[in-house]
Amino acid sequence: MASANQRIFATRRLPGAALASLPGGVDLEVFDGAAGPDPDTLVRRAAHADGLLCLLTDRIDAALLDACPNLRVVSSCSVGLDHVDLAACTARGVPVGHTPGVLTETTAELTIALLFAAARRIAEADRFVRAGRWQAWDPELLLGRDLGGSTLGVIGLGAIGRAVAVRARALGMEVVGWSRSGRAVEGVRSVAFGELLRCSDFVSVHVALTDETRGLLGEEALAQLKPGAILINSARGGIVDEAALAERLASGAIAGAGLDVFSEEPLPADSPLRGLENAVLLPHIGSASFRTRARMADLAVENLLAGLSGERLLQCGNPEVYAAAEAEKSSG
Ligand code: DGY
Repeated sequence: MASANQRIFATRRLPGAALASLPGGVDLEVFDGAAGPDPDTLVRRAAHADGLLCLLTDRIDAALLDACPNLRVVSSCSVGLDHVDLAACTARGVPVGHTPGVLTETTAELTIALLFAAARRIAEADRFVRAGRWQAWDPELLLGRDLGGSTLGVIGLGAIGRAVAVRARALGMEVVGWSRSGRAVEGVRSVAFGELLRCSDFVSVHVALTDETRGLLGEEALAQLKPGAILINSARGGIVDEAALAERLASGAIAGAGLDVFSEEPLPADSPLRGLENAVLLPHIGSASFRTRARMADLAVENLLAGLSGERLLQCGNPEVYAAAEAEKSSG
């Protein structure tokens, strides 16, 4: 049980009832602003916190941790932890919670929605009607690509990649896959990274953003995509070189892209992607269903409370923190 008077700083209000369910006596401060605190405000407001509840937009680095000497746990309401310096947390004995599992299906559904939207030009067709450009039924109007009978290449075969593969197969797609670990997945033909790029009609990205995957789909990789291919990214923007992607979309070298994530979010006004009809652009809503966001908030709060009471987190992004603590205990 978290003890009374422990302080929690939450960088945003969360959906659902998770924050309201905190035990009485816990001192909760919630940042009241739609965009969340800027880094200086975060340092100032979290300075006395025992527990920090954050989102993927909050940078949790060594400087912040040093400014928060009482911190016993960081709990992020996200599965991705690329905004957290995990090594710095581990070095300070701070476990980091995250929310895998509860958002898998919802994110896979959004990925399939992006596949359909990019393949059948849904957003473009909607703009076409609204702009009053629909003059007649035309047998050549807004032709797209079929999913059934085509090949989907899944980059990263973790829970979300596998959930996308299951759905794609149900749509009649052949699925090939690549993961760094080379894991075998039923119904997915395992191929080398280059082969996946060259043989897929659609490529969908499902790896975490790490030092190894940053820029994985750079200029060279994008150049290997089939002419007419469609790229989907619902993982993290930094995995794809957006400038190179925009060039290939503009030249027609590839047919389209469905992007829910960007290297800079919100997408800057001068991003070349904004002017491209063949790019479907979403504001990072992969897990944005009522049910899933409430589940994420519940899990984030459970992780937080576990950390405050010195228990193991339900989902910990740096489990090595426990081994390090054990080693310290037995040597002391
Ligand atoms: C995450 O949780 O990391 C997603 O990007 C948003 O749900």
